[in-house]
Amino acid sequence: MAVDLKIDEVGYWSEVKIAILAEYAKFYNQILRSNRLHSVYIDGFAGAGYHKAKGSDRIIEGSPARALGVEPAFGEYHFVDMNPARVGALAGLGGGRENIHVYEGDCNEILIQHVFPQIRWENYQRALCILDPYGLHLDWHVIKAAADTQAIEIFLNFPVMDMQMNVFWSNPDRVTEENRGRMTRFWGDESWREAAYTPVQGLFGEMTQKNPIDIITRAFQSRLKQAAGFEFVPDPIPMRNTKGAIVYYLFFASHNRTAHKIVNYIFEQSSKYGEVPDGGTFDNRMD
Ligand SMILES: C[S@@+](CC[C@H](N)C(=O)[O-])C[C@H]1O[C@@H](n2cnc3c(N)ncnc32)[C@H](O)[C@@H]1O
Repeated sequence: MAVDLKIDEVGYWSEVKIAILAEYAKFYNQILRSNRLHSVYIDGFAGAGYHKAKGSDRIIEGSPARALGVEPAFGEYHFVDMNPARVGALAGLGGGRENIHVYEGDCNEILIQHVFPQIRWENYQRALCILDPYGLHLDWHVIKAAADTQAIEIFLNFPVMDMQMNVFWSNPDRVTEENRGRMTRFWGDESWREAAYTPVQGLFGEMTQKNPIDIITRAFQSRLKQAAGFEFVPDPIPMRNTKGAIVYYLFFASHNRTAHKIVNYIFEQSSKYGEVPDGGTFDNRMD
């Protein structure tokens, strides 16, 4: 039975994100190739492959389509999405190339059970994995499993909009159990509470005060190093909506010093960009 494909409308900062991924992927494959290593691209929340630019009919390549166009090319591609129509669209990308593998289902299971075990340091395989959920849909075990391989580095969407709207309320007692559970699953344990709130002395005894989002984001950066075990985690870059509000932070985590330096540079360059005028594209600005 055919399933309707609804492609996402995305704003300027999604284009920035995709340009960052493509820019880094180019360096990544050059370096791996010169070291005779096999490069693999993994997209956990892959989407349909294409998007529409918000407020126009302009079609934009999503992360999987963009990854397929990177030169030098990856040796292998793994795309996962839980939406059947998007999986159908993903299967049509790449014109039947045999090194593209598409999976339908929850990437929190598929990555750990089927994809990551294929990437082995001792077999000279290395992977770049994109974890780009809409909100708190990622399980910490995926991050930890990627770090444990020593061979997989990640770009990670840290979804602060979902956290701010549903979890980091001034009165933590009013947050639903479901939303607290989603936060704990993403963070890996309940230590997000200490990162998110500071105990203060109020008129009627001890109270909690909500911390600014950059403090919470810094705490997650430390977690990627200390709890997941990634050696290098550059400062993440904020991704904003058209009103300037931060929707998520884009993190990168790796075991490789050169990767860290390259991403730091790309992040610094990218954070200088503002809103593009109507009809403009981000690509012009990367040169
Ligand atoms: C933000 S979009 C990805 C956009 C894509 N990275 C890009 O830049 O083109 C998130 C995608 O994740 C998918 N998704 C949501 N939960 C998922 C899960 N648990 N496992 C796999 N895919 C999931 C949605 O269907 C959606 O297509």
